[in-house]
Order: sequence, then C-alpha cells, then structure tokens
Amino acid sequence: MNWRQLPGAPAPGTVLARLEAVPDGGALLANLGAEAAPFKIILLRSGRAVFAYVNRCAHFGVPLAEKTEHLGIRPHESIRCCVHYARYRWRDGSCESGECEGAGLLPISLVVRDGLIAIAADDA
Ligand code: FES
Repeated sequence: MNWRQLPGAPAPGTVLARLEAVPDGGALLANLGAEAAPFKIILLRSGRAVFAYVNRCAHFGVPLAEKTEHLGIRPHESIRCCVHYARYRWRDGSCESGECEGAGLLPISLVVRDGLIAIAADDA
C-alpha cells in the first residue's frame, strides 16, 4: 500500500516538526490535518537521521499508540504497538515479532533542512 493513497495524506514539503522537537533515541507523534480525522505519523530520531512511519499498525490498521510513552521504545532499535504488542524495527519499520511478523509500517521519506523535518518531494 502507498501511504499517499490514505485519506488526509500530507503533500510533499509539508513540515512535520523541528528536529530538536524529536529527542535523540526517542519519538514524536504528529497529527496532521483535520482534528476529527488526523493523519498520524510517528517520527523516530537517531542523531541527525529521522525515520517516519504512518502511525498505523500492520495488524489491524489502528494507531500503534496515541502517546509516545505507550510505544515501548527501545532507543534506536524498535517500537511496539500498544494494542497486541507487535514490535517494529526502528530503521525500516518491519515487524520483527508479533501478530504481523514479516509485514511492516508504511515508511515516509523525509528531508531535514535548516532544522526542520518535512515530507520529501520525491516520496512516491
Ligand atoms: S493492532 Fe497492533 S499488534 Fe494488533
């Protein structure tokens, strides 16, 4: 599935957050668009690198968590869905254990420029 086909998918260039808003080895949950039906993104940071995934579990298609403290973060290694505890790799979003092992989160390509994290123009 291409994440751009999901309702409310943000346009290329959309700024998600300031780099400093994502702790190194930590996460930031970003909700974009309409408050009633936001497009939910998980940002994970390792130094200057930031990884982004749609906050949508590969198991039931629901958010992994609504708060970062419920992501079961293993810094730079993995995060966990708080519903049935599937665990996803930090760097590629693949499910390494749980109900959807072998599936994965939907990755979103980013650019980090001038301290801002934005959706890459060439993500397809
Ligand atoms: S909904 Fe995420 S593991 Fe089941």
